[in-house]
Amino acid sequence: MTGHPDENVIGPTANEFRDALGHFATGITVITAMDDEGPVGLAANSFTSVSLDPPLVLFCPAKTSSSWPRIERANSFAVNILDDAQEEVCRVFATPGEDRFSKVAWHLSPSGSPLLDDVHAFLDCVLHEVHDGGDHWIVVGRVIDLGIEADAGPLLYYRGQYGRLGE
Ligand SMILES: Cc1cc2nc3c(=O)[nH]c(=O)nc-3n(C[C@H](O)[C@H](O)[C@H](O)COP(=O)(O)O)c2cc1C
Repeated sequence: MTGHPDENVIGPTANEFRDALGHFATGITVITAMDDEGPVGLAANSFTSVSLDPPLVLFCPAKTSSSWPRIERANSFAVNILDDAQEEVCRVFATPGEDRFSKVAWHLSPSGSPLLDDVHAFLDCVLHEVHDGGDHWIVVGRVIDLGIEADAGPLLYYRGQYGRLGE
């Protein structure tokens, strides 16, 4: 660490922090929900498991996310875990201004959240708790249903690049 340009501030610079975090390899999810305006969703790699009993998971939407207020109103959401053929799906759900759900095939889960077709696995959740996380929210969901397809490999994300297992 080279230190913050303002020596009164303890901690890394934003660039150092981003670069270090990029060294943590993740999968990629698309978080989806349905409100009275229709389906909504965004790409997120901040997903992780939290608790086995009860079954809890979390993701962190930026406080600037336009999808998050609608997901919060819906009070439930689905975690779509992308497979290694779905890089383009990730791009669609990470691009502002896209008509995202016109670009992908999807259907409704029994609880009413949109599920993207052909994902690696999905978790259907009800909103459990929302915590403050700096410039993001920490959103905890309780898993009420799930499905595993996994006939391909997972889509990975590492140092700003998409990757596949074995590459
Ligand atoms: C691989 C990848 C991971 C991302 N992870 C997150 C995330 O965890 N939280 C987040 O708020 N945005 C994340 N983003 C950015 C959002 O997908 C992007 O800003 C999107 O346009 C937000 O849409 P919204 O404003 O409709 O919520 C990620 C983007 C990519 C490409």
